[in-house]
Amino acid sequence: MPREAPSPAGILPPITMSFQQRTINCGEPRASHAGQTVTINGWAHKVRDLGGLLFVDVRDRTGLLQVIFPENTKAEIRSETCLSITGTIAPRDASNVNPNQPTGEVELRVTDFEILNQAAVLPFPLSDEKSMERVNEELRMKYRYVDLRRPSVYQRMALRAAAVKGIRAYLDNETFLEIETPIITKSTPEGARDYLVPYRIEPGKFYALPQSPQQYKQLLMVGGLERYYQIAKCFRDESQRADRQPEFTQLDIEMSFITQEDILGLIERMTVKVVNDLIADFALDIEPISSFERLTYDESLALYGSDKPDLRFGLTIFNAAEALANTEFSVFKNTLEAGNFIRGLRYPGGAELSRKQITEFEDLAKSFGAKGLATFSLINPSEEAEGSRLTASGLRVKGGISKFLSDAEVDALVALSGAEAGDLLCFVADNWAVTNDGLCRIRLKIGSDLGLRDPRKLAFGFVVDFPLVEWNEDEQRWDPSHHPFTSPKSADIPLLDTDPGKIRADCYDVVCNGYEWGSGSIRIHRPDLQAKIFTLIGVTPEQQEERFAHILEAFTYGAPPHGGIATGIDRLIMLLLNEENIREVMAFPKMGNGYDPLMDAPSTVDEKQWEEMGLMLRPAPPKS
Ligand code: AMO
Ligand code: AMP
Repeated sequence: MPREAPSPAGILPPITMSFQQRTINCGEPRASHAGQTVTINGWAHKVRDLGGLLFVDVRDRTGLLQVIFPENTKAEIRSETCLSITGTIAPRDASNVNPNQPTGEVELRVTDFEILNQAAVLPFPLSDEKSMERVNEELRMKYRYVDLRRPSVYQRMALRAAAVKGIRAYLDNETFLEIETPIITKSTPEGARDYLVPYRIEPGKFYALPQSPQQYKQLLMVGGLERYYQIAKCFRDESQRADRQPEFTQLDIEMSFITQEDILGLIERMTVKVVNDLIADFALDIEPISSFERLTYDESLALYGSDKPDLRFGLTIFNAAEALANTEFSVFKNTLEAGNFIRGLRYPGGAELSRKQITEFEDLAKSFGAKGLATFSLINPSEEAEGSRLTASGLRVKGGISKFLSDAEVDALVALSGAEAGDLLCFVADNWAVTNDGLCRIRLKIGSDLGLRDPRKLAFGFVVDFPLVEWNEDEQRWDPSHHPFTSPKSADIPLLDTDPGKIRADCYDVVCNGYEWGSGSIRIHRPDLQAKIFTLIGVTPEQQEERFAHILEAFTYGAPPHGGIATGIDRLIMLLLNEENIREVMAFPKMGNGYDPLMDAPSTVDEKQWEEMGLMLRPAPPKS
């Protein structure tokens, strides 16, 4: 030993591709294996050279095993060297037992070993999870194949694989068919830009990568398949966020002859089963989930200021305008005169906040468009603090806008908010959208500050009855809230010609902990209604013919009533791991701007490929 004889200087060592294969995984040996001769295959996780005695923790995907080489072994074993080691399992001395490691009672005493492949000096140290937190993310992603070797990253990939497996098993059992749909195809709009693929045969023509399999899954319903699902790759050229990637994976579902309730019921049952199994199998520190909360889009905005509420805690928004009809506070008065909204939140215990902390809250509200954050505190009536006042009804208010409020207004605001002594009340006065955005963020910060966004909880809910269309001020047109294939509620169809903004759709989202996890709708299956919706959202008859003739025609051949949903696989894993960055749950994610530092993609292509595609770069427009 080592098995390969050292080569004379200057002569390459013989290369062999054969090696001693493992007889046991690194994570398996226990005290009961003592005395057995075994072979392990893996990587040198941590190497310690104690003056002639070489200790190496050898790692494979199942765990770590401490390995001891005989005294004075001459071998260059660097971190992450790939090894095959044969030896005898021996119990450790009582003083050397490591109770934190499953294999901590034993070690492997080497009798024979082979360096399968030496490792160059690593770009970052893998053996110390704590120091990995400080490693630059782009560097980690450039060397993702090294990063993936970390046991914590392996666990994420294993959880993801198990989630997909659980979903498949559930849907297969419910008689769904898993069907693949094309990747190079025609644009299916979901509100982002398309990734285009030039068509070599006819220069100037392009395929688009699907933003979702939406049209194909509807065509499968026209094709009579009735129950489809797919673990589908989707591609969207849109600005990146922590929970968004240009290329991501959906669980995509479509069903025929169903109602909204059938889909929501299926998703709820499947999620409860799959998530609870994962919690148990991976010993996740999360409470098992049961039923989903349900609220309408209007309720969600009124109570949480968002259509993706964090339902782990209450502290809902209240309508303060009711208490302020005769207010003398100019900001509020002007707001009401302009027909706008005054809405508030209670911060339990917030009377203790310093002026600096309140300013931070105000800055947060302003960063989401609010012009300010009006506040006042309710304190203990017997606490005669400077700048405080006792109201006629015996409440004591302090600071902020309290001096502008009458006693009756204070009473009414306290009643509306349920505030108690020690609380802070916060208000945003503005239009509906700004009060929503500002107060949603303030509410989430209050929740975080008070420890109410419990990482051990998953609060799933359905938000239903979304509006069909939203007014796009920039483009001066109606945009679909979901996508153009979503059906208006039957009762609201007459509003198509009179008041489109008021039309509610058979459209629903699944939310969890402040994220949108999934989205779906009952679809339009009648060509006349589909054409009418296209027209409403500004798709001209010529554009309809060019872009959507296939689906409009398909609907003329007895298309069944159908609907479906898609949920984000990446987002599910983020939620299960309480991970805020979607990149951490994908094997090979893209960085900002869609850049892949590992492959160095996107990249330039050969002149010949430009020619073949009939493409040339347009000169940049002159700078004005
Ligand atoms: P939607 O566009 O809402 O609906 O997408 C459904 C779900 O996919 C996930 N998702 C993303 N995940 C990561 N990165 C992204 N860029 C990204 N975009 C979306 C989210 C989201 O809730 N065809 C419709 C579904 C339907 O109507 O059946 C659709 O794609 O979790
Ligand atoms: P000002 O009269 O502008 O000094 O504002 C008095 C207080 O009201 C400050 O705390 C501001 O942050 C707050 N404020 C100003 N505009 C608004 C608004 N639109 N909504 C809520 N609070 C506001």
